[in-house]
Amino acid sequence: MEIRDNILHIGGISARDLVDEFKSPLYVYEEDTIRARAGELKNAITFANKEIKFACKANTNLEIMKVLKDEGMGIDAVSPGEIFAALKAGFAPDRILFTTNNVLWEEIEYAVSKNVLANLDSLSQLRMFGERFPCRDVCVRINPNVGAGHHDHVITGGPESKFGINYTEVDDIKDIAEKYRLRMTGIHQHIGSGILEPEMFIKAMDVLLETAKYFDDLSFIDFGGGIGVPYRENEKRIDIAVLGKMISERFASFADRQGGGGHSVSREKDGLKLVIEPGRYLVAESGFLLATVASIKAEKKHRFVGIDTGFNHLVRPAMYGSYHQILHTEKAENPGVKQVIAGNLCESGDTFTRDENGIVDRDLPLFNEGDIVCLCNAGAYGYSMASFYNSRPRPAEVLVKEGSAKLIRRRETYEEIFTGSR
Ligand code: LLP
Repeated sequence: MEIRDNILHIGGISARDLVDEFKSPLYVYEEDTIRARAGELKNAITFANKEIKFACKANTNLEIMKVLKDEGMGIDAVSPGEIFAALKAGFAPDRILFTTNNVLWEEIEYAVSKNVLANLDSLSQLRMFGERFPCRDVCVRINPNVGAGHHDHVITGGPESKFGINYTEVDDIKDIAEKYRLRMTGIHQHIGSGILEPEMFIKAMDVLLETAKYFDDLSFIDFGGGIGVPYRENEKRIDIAVLGKMISERFASFADRQGGGGHSVSREKDGLKLVIEPGRYLVAESGFLLATVASIKAEKKHRFVGIDTGFNHLVRPAMYGSYHQILHTEKAENPGVKQVIAGNLCESGDTFTRDENGIVDRDLPLFNEGDIVCLCNAGAYGYSMASFYNSRPRPAEVLVKEGSAKLIRRRETYEEIFTGSR
């Protein structure tokens, strides 16, 4: 994204031109930004035998998944739907991990039928897996009793968490695996989302490495995702090179010790693989939601700028009180006046300038009817969490690169919503 003469350009095209061509509201993604983030991560993890799996819950647009496949990523999938999407995008089954939570048996069977490794998150499921599929490869999700994240809703480790098998239950895991001759090829954890300080990630990593010592057949250890991105204008970016180095060094010394010292090189090449599975980091900053100002209401307390989208299309502010930078696409650098950006849904919580407690005025260039608003950092958990609430179709999605735009998903239609046909 770039501001040229006060005008916002995404992938070299002005926001106005994009909306003229593809209509509003519209999700726009910059391919170069996705590739840049992927490149940074690959460089940051210096341990050679590594795999970065894209946690595609952040964005399941097939074209975006294909970009990440082209960057050498694998996939962390959490549902049969995500497995389906990953296979459709061309990922090989052995690059996909199915991370389960409270799934019905049919879902695990679906993964197995597609040759996708299951990552089980309870002892009972592990037992059931053993009964039905003895002697198979399997992975388990561990709760390291450490959690972190930008909001309670997204902390997925620790005593309050519904995820994973507590690391203290390692003996039970081993007993079940032994009984059914399961090969525990991987162990996994994911402690939460939107982490901007490396400490918690490293702390959890140490717990998982301790746990890993109990397993002889491991071919990978997956430390999950969770790497945050700055949402606020002045927020500090995580130093990805430092984090990558910390992760790699810790992992290398573990792999060395496990491999009996001098064998570290062969272990790096053929042995234990370091896996991480970021979602947000790879795609959040590439995405923008463009919307048109439909109505202005200058009330005593707030100036409401009403736009043609709502929390049906970007739920993060309403759901977590999340902050998304907002830009005026044609007066991007004008001085700000206090305004509230409000959606078009029939709920008063449908505002984009808010925190968890409600509306927060924001200093933004003066908006008028017909102007285009840009909600930034919408590439992760934007469209993938969108709904057709209030029977408003989901927006179209466009991928931009070097001045050209490609429609990567059509706007949803009423027919699709109500009859399931096009
Ligand atoms: N792996 C697993 C098993 C996960 O559950 C998640 C995210 C990730 C990886 C990727 O986490 P990331 O790198 O994107 O932080 N809707 C929330 C985020 C929920 C994340 C859920 N799990 C939001 O909009 O902030």
